[in-house]
Amino acid sequence: MTTDPIFTPLAFRSLTVKNRIFRSSISGRFDNEDGSLTQTRINWECRFAKGGAGAIISSYVPVRMDGRIIAGYATIHRDDFIPLWQKLGEAVHRFDCKFILQLSHSGRQMDLPGVHNQHRPAPAPTSAKEPLHGFLCRAMGTGEIEQLIAAFARGAWRAREAGLDGVELHAANGYLFTQFLSSAINDRTDLYGGSLGNRARFLLDVIRAIRASVGRDFHLQVKLSAVEHNDFLLPWAAKGNTLADTIAVARWCEAAGADALHISTGSAFPHPLNPPGPMPLELLAVTYDAMVSAGLHGFRNLLVFRSPLLRPLFRLLWDRKRRGRPIEGVGLDEARAIKAAVGIPVLSTGGYQTASVVRNGIVSGAFDGVAIARPLIANPDLPQHWAAGRDLPPVPCTYCNKCLASAPKNPLGCYEESRFPSREAMLAAITAIYRARPELRVPEPEEVS
Ligand SMILES: Cc1cc2nc3c(=O)[nH]c(=O)nc-3n(C[C@H](O)[C@H](O)[C@H](O)COP(=O)(O)O)c2cc1C
Repeated sequence: MTTDPIFTPLAFRSLTVKNRIFRSSISGRFDNEDGSLTQTRINWECRFAKGGAGAIISSYVPVRMDGRIIAGYATIHRDDFIPLWQKLGEAVHRFDCKFILQLSHSGRQMDLPGVHNQHRPAPAPTSAKEPLHGFLCRAMGTGEIEQLIAAFARGAWRAREAGLDGVELHAANGYLFTQFLSSAINDRTDLYGGSLGNRARFLLDVIRAIRASVGRDFHLQVKLSAVEHNDFLLPWAAKGNTLADTIAVARWCEAAGADALHISTGSAFPHPLNPPGPMPLELLAVTYDAMVSAGLHGFRNLLVFRSPLLRPLFRLLWDRKRRGRPIEGVGLDEARAIKAAVGIPVLSTGGYQTASVVRNGIVSGAFDGVAIARPLIANPDLPQHWAAGRDLPPVPCTYCNKCLASAPKNPLGCYEESRFPSREAMLAAITAIYRARPELRVPEPEEVS
């Protein structure tokens, strides 16, 4: 029996996870255009379950097609997808790993509309376009908000029917819930805007609707941005919600029925503090063209990323926000402040890959567990290195953010060539999950449409 706090189980109200290591959400285009998930996604998630994570938090999973951020991500908007998610859950459970589904909606932060959402301003709490890329949106009416609340509740119900272990509401990183919560973005004058209590109404209504749909015994956690830092590019922009605001929201989430909180940061994604590290603009100069037509500022941004003169200026503005902060544990202090204010477990995300940092965070009461994304992309077996007594894996994640900057065009994986013996080895690691499977079958003639 281990005494290492990292490898002691974490007991939530109705779910116990074998250790304190959560694979954080990492979106990648593995799935079908209609939102049905594929064998590739199952292979991808099993990588982390086998590596020793106690639980996997799924990638961004939209509850409706108009909430996608990129086509080719699995969704949970149809009842006939339940058996597919069930297969994924079963695959992960074989490794004694839990699976928590991240229920999401983009609001105005829709990166690539795809054929389903092309030329349709995204439903959002506001009609003001998203400032960085210039994504268009329209303010939802109250009837539409009520329909969306029901869609989240149905998504949670489907996750439970599929035998998954819980759901996470994605109320962080600039997506729909964050837009409602934000004092910088939400410009409504009805019951869903104005005071912090009104801005939190949508999130709290969703928590209550999920509880009404699945009962008290299905795990429900909420991912929140501790601080918005909405002025990250334009110093004169409104700053958005403060830590004190988020502490109040965290307490309300607990009172409404949340079982845990997952603390992130930032009013957008990506954001200089999330994922923390440099933004590889040279790579964006190659991949961002996929997003040029998605927003009004796409072409301008591409020129900035391609221009040897403007690139350093953008880099300066981007990096300014991170100055003086560590990459590993960038959100540790905020997680600690929120944990001190609530009675439910708190997860922290942001740069964790050193065992001693995580251990100290647990022992000192900053958080109960960590949610890890890039260091697990780099080393899916990171938990095994820690269990073997190593503080860091031999070839750690460099936080280069090339996995993220590749996403608009390329498959998800580690693109830091210096971590591999060759470019071919890197590509082999990225594409290993695409192996063809014998169970592919020839459809019956009447199935062909
Ligand atoms: C390629 C990539 C995709 C991501 N996709 C999601 C997502 O779908 N949902 C989410 O909440 N966070 C997403 N994140 C953020 C991570 O879950 C995590 O919170 C963040 O990267 C900080 O952790 P890290 O330093 O361990 O990477 C993504 C991050 C990366 C790098």
